Amino acid sequence: MGYYKINNVNLFISDWGVGRPILFIHGFPFDHTIWNRTSNILQNDFRVIVPDLRGLGKSELPDDWNITPMEQFADDLHILLGTLGIVEKAVICGLSMGGYIVMQYARKYRNELAGLVLCNTKTIPDSPVIADNRRKQAAGLTSGTLALRSVADTMIPKLFSEATLSNKPEVVQELRTVIESNQPIGVAAAALGMAERLDTTELLGELEIPVLVICGSEDQFSPPSEMKPLAEKAKHGTFIEIPDAGHLPPLEQPEHFAAELKRWMETVC
Ligand code: MLT
Repeated sequence: MGYYKINNVNLFISDWGVGRPILFIHGFPFDHTIWNRTSNILQNDFRVIVPDLRGLGKSELPDDWNITPMEQFADDLHILLGTLGIVEKAVICGLSMGGYIVMQYARKYRNELAGLVLCNTKTIPDSPVIADNRRKQAAGLTSGTLALRSVADTMIPKLFSEATLSNKPEVVQELRTVIESNQPIGVAAAALGMAERLDTTELLGELEIPVLVICGSEDQFSPPSEMKPLAEKAKHGTFIEIPDAGHLPPLEQPEHFAAELKRWMETVC
């Protein structure tokens, strides 16, 4: 666990275990800790690499920041795997915004991958209305008129399953702390990047590597009805739904999530 200078920014990385490398990419506006419960289980079987993306968590944003395109995140992570000396083909697993980054990574570096995991994500771009909302959110965060506490207040009721909201208050509080601890400008840069991302649906159908599409049964952002077709679109796709989970199955149902991921990696990758 520590800092690595990648593309001139210090990125905070957790790197544990031995075996096939798996890179976990967090969503927005979170940090690497959303994977802690799952990676603690999987590090017994795999080499688990979990970064804070630039501008989020403990990772820096450059002074001349403007927007962080999904491709920039992917390029950082590609250099990171080289810096860590990883020569074996890796599996990359991204949740929501992390999934947008996974698709950019696959677009450029697919020959270096053993498989992709798309968690609670989409391959379509933002609608004009959503993209506009993101630009307003970024403007509010950079001017100081919007606080991350308000972002958390709006998002949290929609992020979790009923079971998590009722029975796991510590998980809900943990995520609130993650959101509120971020730097507003890092969140703004990522929001602007998401607003400009392109459609990667056709790319999904071209990939020759295995693709696991996995989602929470109660996800309001990327529901199973929208995620299952992604597995059908992939040439070598598998779809798994995690019960009693919303947008964050690795945090809400880590044992089930880790067991499904392990089984898929051992049988397919
Ligand atoms: C995420 O969890 O990364 C976000 O829901 C992604 C998004 O806002 O599109």
